[in-house]
Amino acid sequence: MIKAAIFDLDGVIIDTAHYHYIAWKRLASEFNINLTIEHNELLKGVSRIRSLEIILELGNIHLSEEDKEKYANKKNAWFVEYIESIRPEEIFSGVKELIQNMRDQGIKVALASSSKNAPRVIELLKISELFDTMVDGTMITHSKPHPEIFLLAASRLVVSPAECVVFEDAEAGVEAALAAGMKCVGVGSPGQLGKANKVIAKTGDFRISELSAM
Ligand code: G6P
Ligand code: MG
Repeated sequence: MIKAAIFDLDGVIIDTAHYHYIAWKRLASEFNINLTIEHNELLKGVSRIRSLEIILELGNIHLSEEDKEKYANKKNAWFVEYIESIRPEEIFSGVKELIQNMRDQGIKVALASSSKNAPRVIELLKISELFDTMVDGTMITHSKPHPEIFLLAASRLVVSPAECVVFEDAEAGVEAALAAGMKCVGVGSPGQLGKANKVIAKTGDFRISELSAM
């Protein structure tokens, strides 16, 4: 029986995945790498430094750890600049209502994002009160596809992994949820997220009544 829902942030609650993409694309162009939307799927859900490494591998470019740090910071400065214009209305339609309905029915709700910027995004959206707990990239050692972040969220909600359903737009996130022993709803295309227990086009499309069949 599902007792808790765990939501990823970027691409599930708001389209910040797009801001990550344009910031990485801008950085990649400095290395003469044309980062495509297909490449970008590999970056979703994984940590900042791992994302940079994936991009560098595309261009067969080798950097020192110090330089990697420098370029990761450069991308982050752009991302931070882009997100400052976020307004509360940018939350995906139906998401607030879905989470509120879940909580009204006694389902606990957590946010679990690999992003170290998640607290700022939540603050800008003014939705911190929607969650019983929030875990982000500053609290974990291993980013998705490792299950650590979801297991941490479940332990903070005091539920077992089998009682959790995760909402994820990233392939790495779906893998992490399944590796944690949780159910997973993929948000996006079935081609990309086929391993999830169910795939929906938009988070707001999910109906609470579907939980009993998970
Ligand atoms: C999320 C996003 C990734 C991003 C990662 C780290 O998982 O899906 O695209 O790289 O967070 O984000 P950060 O804000 O810490 O660089
Ligand atoms: Mg995401």
